[in-house]
Amino acid sequence: MQAVLVKQAAERVEKAPFITFEGGEGAGKSTQIKRLAARLQGVGIDAIMTREPGGSPKAERIRALLLAGAAKRFGTLAEAVLFSAARIDHIDTLIAPALTRGTWVLCDRFVDSTRVYQGASGDIDPGQLAVLERVVAGDVMPDVTFILDLPAEAGLARAAARAGADAASDRFEAEGLAFHEKLRAAFLSIAAAEPERCVVIDSTQDKDAVEEAIWAAVVERLPIPEAARAKMDLPKPTKRGPCVAT
Ligand code: TYD
Repeated sequence: MQAVLVKQAAERVEKAPFITFEGGEGAGKSTQIKRLAARLQGVGIDAIMTREPGGSPKAERIRALLLAGAAKRFGTLAEAVLFSAARIDHIDTLIAPALTRGTWVLCDRFVDSTRVYQGASGDIDPGQLAVLERVVAGDVMPDVTFILDLPAEAGLARAAARAGADAASDRFEAEGLAFHEKLRAAFLSIAAAEPERCVVIDSTQDKDAVEEAIWAAVVERLPIPEAARAKMDLPKPTKRGPCVAT
């Protein structure tokens, strides 16, 4: 079942972009994903927001286990497999069908979080993680990944100050500052290795400036349909300008 959907999504991916948001704790992903969804919807683009771990009913059940720390005692590889199990259901039931029908998908965390968080422990071979990623995500890879970057200390302080903080996030927030600095470095190294997919956004800026930087990258990198471009008051693209969906 999954292979079929993955194949369909890969064939249709040019028509419906898949955008992911990544970064450490308190980087402002959830605010920015909402702002981007609202902007896209405002120009008539069909876009949905989702998140990992979770995003589908079965995956949300796995999320609850993972973030409560229930899987920690089984070791990092087992945790990575559980994040992946949640991802399979999320792709099968939500992401691939949406992309296939032409709906833009904006996802709060995806494969880079597994590479970074589970990879940061140092006790899994990165090759094993790469194989797991290929098996699980296949061709359903993001067209653009925004890496919201800020110093770990600032991010942790923001996360702690978040009103009514999600207690479930304790599993990873509870790790020390050195762990979170490692995460930041790992996200930046993915961005350096895959510049065609990743855009690093300075998240120490205010929220409006972050939103504008994200919007500028979306307009530059993704195929905005003609009707939406007209609403955005954008000039018609030139041969060398931004790509436009036909
Ligand atoms: P969440 O409360 O969604 O945190 P945030 O607002 O920072 O996104 O919790 C998700 C946590 O799960 C976060 O600490 C990152 C972690 N995570 C992994 O360790 N591996 C993964 O593959 C994913 C998707 C998330």
